[in-house]
Amino acid sequence: MPYPTGERMAATTSRRAKTSSALEPVAAQPKGALRILHVAAEVAPFIKSGGLADVAQALPAALRRLGHDARVCLPCYRRTYVEAEKRGVKWLSTPMIIESGGVDHHVGIGEVLLDGMPVYLLACNELYDRDGLYGPSQHQEYEDNARRFAVLSKAALALPGAIGWTPHIIHAHDWQTGLVPVLLQRGFCKALPATRSVFTIHNIAFQGAFPAHDMRLAGLDPWLYNAMHCEHFGRFNMLKTGIAFADRVTTVSRRYAEEIQTPEYGWTLDAVIRHHGYKLSGITNGVDTQVWNPARDPDIAANYDVEDLAGKLTCRRALREECGLAKREDVCLLALVSRLTEQKGIDLVIDAVSPYIIAGRMQLAVLGSGDLHLEHRLNALQARHPGWVYTWYGYNEALAHRFVAGADAFLVPSRFEPCGLTQMYAMRYGTLPIVRYTGGLADTVSDVSAGAGTGFTFGPVDIGHFSAVLDRALGLFQHFPAEWAAAQKRGMTADLSWDKAGREYEGLYKGMTCA
Ligand code: ADP
Ligand code: GLC
Repeated sequence: MPYPTGERMAATTSRRAKTSSALEPVAAQPKGALRILHVAAEVAPFIKSGGLADVAQALPAALRRLGHDARVCLPCYRRTYVEAEKRGVKWLSTPMIIESGGVDHHVGIGEVLLDGMPVYLLACNELYDRDGLYGPSQHQEYEDNARRFAVLSKAALALPGAIGWTPHIIHAHDWQTGLVPVLLQRGFCKALPATRSVFTIHNIAFQGAFPAHDMRLAGLDPWLYNAMHCEHFGRFNMLKTGIAFADRVTTVSRRYAEEIQTPEYGWTLDAVIRHHGYKLSGITNGVDTQVWNPARDPDIAANYDVEDLAGKLTCRRALREECGLAKREDVCLLALVSRLTEQKGIDLVIDAVSPYIIAGRMQLAVLGSGDLHLEHRLNALQARHPGWVYTWYGYNEALAHRFVAGADAFLVPSRFEPCGLTQMYAMRYGTLPIVRYTGGLADTVSDVSAGAGTGFTFGPVDIGHFSAVLDRALGLFQHFPAEWAAAQKRGMTADLSWDKAGREYEGLYKGMTCA
């Protein structure tokens, strides 16, 4: 359903809000507190296709716990509207007019509180009121994505004026918001002369590259179309633009900040990253412990904590039952929850697991969606091993929780992984992660062979190395239960919370604003 416009909007607005700012005033912030506006294309629980949504929700929340006035804005997609209505969204009476390539878009502003945090929904029916997020299907993009996200960046900068709130920092996430820094720096929004920009790269493989003429959608001077600014290999590149113009650039783990400076991981932008290295830092994401907590999780068969893991056995039994897997408690149950793509190393799993299943050492449960050829190969694997392999295609938040709680070990064999969240969720739930030693996986999982480890890591991406790490994990599971239990406990008590990352971002912002 589209957000209300015209007469419907006036009716809705007058029913719900008499003034232009519909929410109660936010409590006064302590001295030295910063005002920070986060801008992202996805924010959980309003819309989510991956970890960006988790971060865009949890990071501002962590900053608020530190006493800052952090808020977040995102486009109001069709699904977002439904979620926002459930949460009592209030529409401001006057939409913003955002010009893009000679067309005026009316952008309505919805306000909703998420655990006390103001979330602003930017509603523009002709751009966002669609079933898909980035395209009609996972395999196709919308043709007007350049316009959709140029308008997002412009609307985010116009928002503070519309709600009468001036942020010290605008923190933009990923290519969809890559034009925020350039528009801010080049004075698109005169009301924000002192506001500084932070741009976070969540995945450098996704760059938002469009034909050169799409630059007009942002109203940027044509001379900026050059290799130092907005152009990259003959395309208008929104990620590169964000990197070039932001006051500070961050990425989502320390190790990934180093990796993207190399040709192997830089996806052609490594030289650009090196050039801007003086303003780059890596801050490793955390886990939202409100959402991912085995002691209080409403989606799992039984709750448990580090003192008493009995509930985990119940979760394991329930997951086997739900997935129709053979009831073999002596067998290691491996789970994977992921986008099914080349990045995530799903092909490695498919190629490697059969011998372990035939040997009766392992069962596999996969929850994911993505490349159809990987789904076909997983289907074939399941058909070969009925009762030992389970697959569920699509997006299912509650099932993801049951996988994380019910499995013994959790696979994240990514070719590259800027941070990765599921390995941390697994650790919180006493499920040992088996990960490739890269990016945030390397920053968050230490190998049990090092003594105080929390999981298993492997290096080169090939079946030999992947099979070797599976051997080690299965060996520990079957023959050294005390060591396995010790690793579970270390993972469950590791500090993976957002508070640490929140403090690092706070330090970064303060360094930029002298607050
Ligand atoms: P990425 O953002 O690269 O996909 P992350 O590990 O950062 O990887 O985040 C993935 C997020 O999406 C996690 O919260 C994970 O639980 C969730 N997720 C991925 N696939 C599914 C799925 N099919 N169903 C439910 N949740 C999923
Ligand atoms: C991206 C990355 C993932 C990261 C997430 C949140 O989707 O692929 O590794 O955890 O963003 O930062």
